Amino acid sequence: MIYTVTLNPALDRAVTVDRLLEDDTTRVQAEKHYAAGKGIDVSRVITELGGKSVALGLVGGYDGLQLEGLLINAGVMTSFKRISGETRTNIILREASRNRQYVISAAGPEVGSAEIAEFYRGIVEIQDMEYLVMSGSLARGVSHNLYGQLILAARKKNAFSLLDADGRAMQESIGFQPTCIKPNIHELSRLVGRELETESDILDACERIHREGVTYVLVSRGKDGLILSTETWRLKAKAPAVETESAVGAGDSAVAGFVLGHSRGGDLTDCLRLSCAAGAATAMTPGTELCHRETVEALLPRIELEEI
Ligand SMILES: Nc1ncnc2c1ncn2[C@@H]1O[C@H](COP(=O)(O)OP(=O)(O)OP(=O)(O)O)[C@@H](O)[C@H]1O
Ligand SMILES: [Mg+2]
Repeated sequence: MIYTVTLNPALDRAVTVDRLLEDDTTRVQAEKHYAAGKGIDVSRVITELGGKSVALGLVGGYDGLQLEGLLINAGVMTSFKRISGETRTNIILREASRNRQYVISAAGPEVGSAEIAEFYRGIVEIQDMEYLVMSGSLARGVSHNLYGQLILAARKKNAFSLLDADGRAMQESIGFQPTCIKPNIHELSRLVGRELETESDILDACERIHREGVTYVLVSRGKDGLILSTETWRLKAKAPAVETESAVGAGDSAVAGFVLGHSRGGDLTDCLRLSCAAGAATAMTPGTELCHRETVEALLPRIELEEI
């Protein structure tokens, strides 16, 4: 089974108004709620593509329950740990008349040490883990190397671990040797501490990361596609030219495609092709919407791969 981890999920409220009024009441035209979080996105895309995964994470309060319910109704399997703090809500405010969007993002709840211990024990006790995907920021109150500790727990189960994080969450966990990391260019350059201008800079950075014991580095490069690097082999996927609406969630979709392809026993070229098609298909959907299966399938034969 593929397990995804989202430590700091959010209930997104997308609110549409005609025009924001000062010192007067602005009426809401439409309101929709979404379960948001990077690991959650990975689970949603895996479900959309016909695979199975279980979303793990921390939720609390009524908004946490609603988040869980939204996922259950979307057919995504979940096994969240409930905490005493309230799951955060982000507000995405669209002002229709001026075609403007405002995102108001809240910090998540502080997580207590007993709560994180219970979450960790829950992971250690999983019997059927084949993949552990850890995405996004850590919750407040947990160690910067928590992902590292989860990587160790996954390794004890012979599970494939994939880390998609930035800053200290990434830096302090990479030494625990995840099977794979999925940085974008900015994350990769922060990780190696220098700007990456050329393809050969990227490959040098990947080589450094392999030396730390990471088997696969999947570098995402927006509309330029992806590079998959192993110690002995590099493959580049060119992103298909598509009409882009919003690339939010494209990275998570690329992670989902890669892991799902791998879990289906595909070779690395199949995994990279599915990863690239899923990312591009998500870039074609508006706002935070993720890819549709038909679009991914239509894009698959259009992905060009090249050994570098
Ligand atoms: N405009 C686009 N056209 C085609 N493919 C795209 C486009 N944007 C993204 N993709 C595909 O999706 C992959 C992941 O996107 P990107 O590099 O933006 O990830 P990211 O920066 O991690 O995004 P996020 O974390 O916000 O989801 C890209 O490597 C590419 O294959
Ligand atoms: Mg990303």
